[in-house]
This record gives sequence, structure tokens and C-alpha cells, in this order.
Amino acid sequence: MNHFLDIHKTDPADLRAMIEQAHTMKKARAGLPKGTLDAEQPLAGQMVALIFEKPSTRTRVSFDVGVRQMGGQTLVLSGSDMQLGHGESIADTARVLSRYVDLIMIRTFEESTLLELAENASVPVINGLTNRTHPCQIMADIQTFEEHNGPIKGKKVVWMGDGNNVAASFIHAAGQFGFDLTFSGPEQLDPEAEFIAAARAKGVKIEIERDAEKAVEGADLVVADTWVSMHDPQSARQRRHNLLYPYQVNKGLMQNAKNDALFMHCLPAHREEEVTNEVMDGPQSVIFDEAENRLHAQKAVMRWCLGV
Ligand code: CP
Ligand code: NVA
Repeated sequence: MNHFLDIHKTDPADLRAMIEQAHTMKKARAGLPKGTLDAEQPLAGQMVALIFEKPSTRTRVSFDVGVRQMGGQTLVLSGSDMQLGHGESIADTARVLSRYVDLIMIRTFEESTLLELAENASVPVINGLTNRTHPCQIMADIQTFEEHNGPIKGKKVVWMGDGNNVAASFIHAAGQFGFDLTFSGPEQLDPEAEFIAAARAKGVKIEIERDAEKAVEGADLVVADTWVSMHDPQSARQRRHNLLYPYQVNKGLMQNAKNDALFMHCLPAHREEEVTNEVMDGPQSVIFDEAENRLHAQKAVMRWCLGV
């Protein structure tokens, strides 16, 4: 049984195999109507619980559709409607759910909730985002980069803005997939030093460059995310905007990257804040391929978790 809790906790060979399977499974479905089941039905007879303690469009729909395409069934649960949101312990919730379902995906606030769930479940658990990381997103991003511009190994990724949960999983991926990453944002919002050190220890370059224009020089991929994440207090909004405005991704900034550099954003985006419409809708943007690839990458993750 394999939990998919974080990219740095997953064996690099397994991560690579998942990406390859995601590429293959995507190709196999090309042109089929969305509701058509896959030729292979590896999740036939399997029940998957999808728990959301925060809002979601992509994660919710891509997991639900992905399970169904592979022949499984889903239960989409809102944390606040469960006893979990009313005082039942996470450990007991894990033990109970393990009697009903074969796989659990959870989007939650504290990482400790995810870890306690995984520790007490007798079925695999997938991290669908915590305050600290968002590994499924980065699996889709690696798949997207590679289908446009080939192997990501040795490439330069530039993260612009907040050193948040999505940035953290990108840093983990740098170590596991072997690419360099430059973080460009204000010091107050730096990614966790522990994550940077761990990636560096795997032999990749993780740099911090406060000057946005310098940071994107030679970039193969520029990535942005919201300036205010779901777990950030609304009271921090103005301060964050002031700190992050110099890191907005706009056409002028993209011109400092390589000519064939891609632009990514996990979405939802705040257009004209962290990124301009010109970049979002421009020729370098692959944001909707990224969104689509959540489906394919997570199907591969679920197969790995279940060993099917
Ligand atoms: N990118 C992402 O996880 O989107 P949702 O919040 O819509 O699931
Ligand atoms: N950093 C964002 C990602 C949303 C998918 C958040 O946590 O709100």
C-alpha cells in the first residue's frame, strides 16, 4: 500500500513511472468523449472517498472523473458535513473510512491532519493540498512541461511570488526530477529553508533572487500562483499585495526568459494581479493543459497507490 503524501517522500523512480503512465494514459484517450471509460478498468470494484475541507474546482472534478474513467466509484465529501468537522478524531475517521473505501484523497488545512489520517488508515491516502504542500499539482505540471518541451531534467524553473504550498512541492520536485529552481519573491514570503536545503542536498541548484528580471534570465518555465492562498487570513491581503506586486508576471518579464519558455499557474488565478491577461492568454501559457493534466497525472498516482 502506497500513500501519496508528498513528492519528496516518494521514490524518484516511482514518480518517473507515474509521469510516463500519465503520458501513456492521456494518449490512449485522445479524442474520446469525456464520459467514455478507459479501455483498461484498473479501478473496477474500487470505492474512492474525496474529502474537501477547502474549496476546489480542479481537484474535485479531476479526481472524480479520473476514478470513473478507470471503472471505480467516488464519494465526494465535504469536511464540514462529516463528524470530522464536529469533533470526531481524525484517527477514528481514518479507521471508519477504511472499512468502506479503498482509497482516500483529502484536501485539508494542517499537514498534521493528512499525516494522522494516513497513519491510521488501512487504505492509501493522497494529499489533495494542505497549507504546506500540493504534490498532485506538480505531477500535472511536470507532465505538462514534458509534453510541450521534453524532459524537465536539467531545466531552469522560476517560481515568482509567494513561497507557498505549491512552491514547496515544486522545490521537492526539483530534487526528485533533477531540475534547478530559482525562487523570486520577498524575503518575508520565502519558502521553508528545510525544503530548500533538502533539494540542494540532492544535487540541484535552488537559488533565491530578489530581482524578478534577473531571476527569469534563462528560464525554461516561469510559474506564478495567487498572492493570497486559501489558508492566509484576509487581513493579510493588502500587505501581501504590496509585497508581491514587484513579482507580477507580465509580458515584459517573460521577455527575459528563454524564447521557448512556458508559463504555468495552478489556477484559480487572479488576473492582472499575480499575472497579466496578456501572459495568461499568450502563446507561452499552458495553464489549461496543466488543468487537464491533473486528470491524467492523478489517475497514474491512484494506480500507483493501489498497485493496479
Ligand atoms: N489547482 C487546484 O488545485 O485547483 P482547485 O483549488 O480548483 O482544486
Ligand atoms: N496556493 C493556493 C493554491 C490553490 C490551488 C492555495 O493554497 O490557496
